[in-house]
Amino acid sequence: MISTLYFVALLSSTMAWGRVGLWSEGSARNETEGGSGDRCSCDAFLPSSTFPIKDLVAVEQTAGEISHKLELEMGKLEDYETKLTAYAEKIIKLTAEIEKMEKNPDAYNDADVDEMKVQIKQVEALIKELQLSIRGSTTVFKSLRVQITAMVGTLNRLEKTYDKNVVLVTRREYVKVQLQLEECERRHQELFNPNIGSCTHTGIIKVSKPIVSHLNAHLNSGYKYGGWGKDSKPIPDRESMYWYSGYTSSSIVDIRFYTNYKNLILRNQFQHHNLHSSWIGTGNNFIIRDNTLYYQINNPFGLAKLNFTTMKYESRVIARASTRFSYSNSPNQNFDFAADESGLWVTYATDVSSGRMVIAKINEPSFGVEEEWQTSVYKPGVSNAFMVCGVLYAVRTVDIQTEEIFYKYDTKTKQESYISVPFERFQDKFSNLDYNPTDQKLYMYNDGYYVNYHLWFNHTAKATVAPPFLLS
Ligand SMILES: *[C@@H]1O[C@H](CO)[C@@H](O)[C@H](O)[C@H]1NC(C)=O
Ligand SMILES: *[C@@H]1O[C@H](CO)[C@@H](O)[C@H](O)[C@H]1NC(C)=O
Ligand SMILES: *[C@@H]1O[C@H](CO)[C@@H](O)[C@H](O)[C@H]1NC(C)=O
Repeated sequence: MISTLYFVALLSSTMAWGRVGLWSEGSARNETEGGSGDRCSCDAFLPSSTFPIKDLVAVEQTAGEISHKLELEMGKLEDYETKLTAYAEKIIKLTAEIEKMEKNPDAYNDADVDEMKVQIKQVEALIKELQLSIRGSTTVFKSLRVQITAMVGTLNRLEKTYDKNVVLVTRREYVKVQLQLEECERRHQELFNPNIGSCTHTGIIKVSKPIVSHLNAHLNSGYKYGGWGKDSKPIPDRESMYWYSGYTSSSIVDIRFYTNYKNLILRNQFQHHNLHSSWIGTGNNFIIRDNTLYYQINNPFGLAKLNFTTMKYESRVIARASTRFSYSNSPNQNFDFAADESGLWVTYATDVSSGRMVIAKINEPSFGVEEEWQTSVYKPGVSNAFMVCGVLYAVRTVDIQTEEIFYKYDTKTKQESYISVPFERFQDKFSNLDYNPTDQKLYMYNDGYYVNYHLWFNHTAKATVAPPFLLS
């Protein structure tokens, strides 16, 4: 017998795919060049004879090639979306017919059943074909990533050595392809994972390769302490905003805001705030949420926030939190803020628990602790931690290039377990690692570089890749 249930499960996942085209419109990054005639009008001067024009030309050529490949991929993605909608409609029709057959089996003969099997085989073949082409795209993206990473390397090397204005022209080319690739990958990812904001999964099962955006806005890899990312609950008109804060020590003294990704990469900030001298922070495990910076202060030792809408500071002391326990890589990381689908969190270790981590849920309006959970993980053995869907994930360093999500604690069930989801770092150390629920990505500040990762979740209820059809 053909399983009706199976069709319904497949249908719901396919329908979710089919919606992508509609709702991705609203969140699509605006790729239009900021302002017309936005070409660089930098001062004309002749570069010295040692200037590596050849390198720049090579980067520009690569950019052109990548751009062309990406246009082809974008075309394919649109094609996938159209096909998925068509398959979804076919499956609805088939499901309805199977239900009819099941209710009244006597009304159908063997020929009817055979006809049905043929139709199902057809849909199966179409879906297999689609899977293959999607896998093909993934390979293309991978090789484009490699090319782009090489471009970043060349650009950063040139910028350190030569005049920034000359390199800026090429950097614009780079930004263009980088944006195209991000957009292409985002839409590709949505075909698989249309569940942003949803927690109908049982946790992280895979982390992508590091996506290296850039050297920080100070153009200085000595600015090893800091963070970057997006607001996890943006206020209207700031949905595409990025922020960055970096420094040569673990102090937090200022923060920069960029209207969008392009401006982050071009280092065109629209705001630069210096923290008031009596509100300097530390520890680099800060986040931005609701246009507000949440961070650690040491005098008095506690939690602090600065609301950029009102420029008002506030602080809270958590008496049981200890100054003795930091993460393994970096000093003063006593409080670690995190935000996920369910709100705002902070973690810390206490003397009473001998340095094991405590998870606290923060009530956003009152900035007070709502509830606490004691974990059994020893904070100094952890390199960083973040929350996803009310679950704490703790990360440790395995070797010179490998990090591993090794532990999780679910605040809903109070269950903890040891897991192993390894992932690659770009550089040696990092001071800030956070999940952002608005795009389900991990953001890392990695020895002065902006790095981020896609995440894959275990969607058990909703298969995201259609399994083979079950025919009796
Ligand atoms: C993108 O920006 C341009 C210029 O600011 C505007 O005309 C266009 O409507 C925007 N597109 C979207 C999809 O927001
Ligand atoms: C920041 O201030 C604005 C304006 O008063 C307020 O609406 C918002 O809730 C505040 N956000 C936080 C996180 O305190
Ligand atoms: C996904 O979740 C299911 C159900 O909880 C579990 O049986 C399976 O092992 C998980 N897969 C991975 C890769 O963790």
